[in-house]
Amino acid sequence: MNEARIEVHRDPTEVTETLREDVREGLSARAKWLPSKWFYDARGSELFEHITRLPEYYPTRAERDILRAHAAEIAAVTGARTVVELGSGSSEKTRLLLDAFAAHGGLREFVPLDVSEAALSASAEATVADYVGLRVHGVVADFTEPLEFLPGTPPRMVVFLGSTIGNFPPDERAKFLASVRSVLADGEWFLLGTDLVKDAGTLVRAYDDAVGVTAAFNRNVLRVINDRLGADFDPEEFEHVARWDDRNEWIEMRLRACRDLTVSVPGADLTVTFVEGEELRTEISAKFRPEGVRAELAEAGFTLRHWWTDPAGLFGVSLAQVADGVIR
Ligand code: AVJ
Repeated sequence: MNEARIEVHRDPTEVTETLREDVREGLSARAKWLPSKWFYDARGSELFEHITRLPEYYPTRAERDILRAHAAEIAAVTGARTVVELGSGSSEKTRLLLDAFAAHGGLREFVPLDVSEAALSASAEATVADYVGLRVHGVVADFTEPLEFLPGTPPRMVVFLGSTIGNFPPDERAKFLASVRSVLADGEWFLLGTDLVKDAGTLVRAYDDAVGVTAAFNRNVLRVINDRLGADFDPEEFEHVARWDDRNEWIEMRLRACRDLTVSVPGADLTVTFVEGEELRTEISAKFRPEGVRAELAEAGFTLRHWWTDPAGLFGVSLAQVADGVIR
């Protein structure tokens, strides 16, 4: 039987070291914050999968509808030989692309890349079993780190779905796009999913669901710090907060201390105090406008070839090419 190859670009000691630095910086800041990538241990990745099935969380369904409608065109237009998926998670939506490439022919390799080794090996094994003849080369890595090692036969298409790009603050977003651009050659492709600006009610509900799965996902970051750095957070002492920031056009998730708290984080040599009501920002999830997406792609050196939305206009998918502007 064909087997998935898994390459680990993530050394557990280094991961803990990076978390330690992030915790020291973010939890000793005046306005406390943490990078959102720390949600995704095995449990966090599972909770996120659950979120994608919630009635309030429309982005996954809207993006899936777009991919279903345009996958054949994406396969035909790009003629990609390699699909690289950044932050692949379960790769569930990517199957629509793999199906279209299977029908079109020509795709040789699928390279899912994720920080969660558990999520990655499950999806790599499932795709290798289901797509006969496709090489699957999983990479355990953090896509915020340099990507110069990206494997695969050209032309490649890098896929970044789910509006995960919205988790970067704007300056890091620009750096990230430039780094994707820098690992691609002229003529190669980038498929990007972006959640769109819409009414605040719909947005806030998507990040504060009625059954509390998003709240559990948010609190999970505290468990990750307990596990990796021996901290003694009681996640139940924090309330889940989701807020729409109208000026920055992003959703913020926060954890609000229910009372005065002192938390020790031995692995980071840190004692953290919270006053009652104090908030820790755990995620920003930026929402986009079509003209903004085009401009940011152009700024990074991509030319937008196609822009698609779902019928309700909730979500956008861009197909961009590394190009000097010449249509070929
Ligand atoms: C997977 C990062 C795109 O920002 O919408 C879901 C994560 N956070 N509910 C998002 C998330 C809260 C999600 N991304």
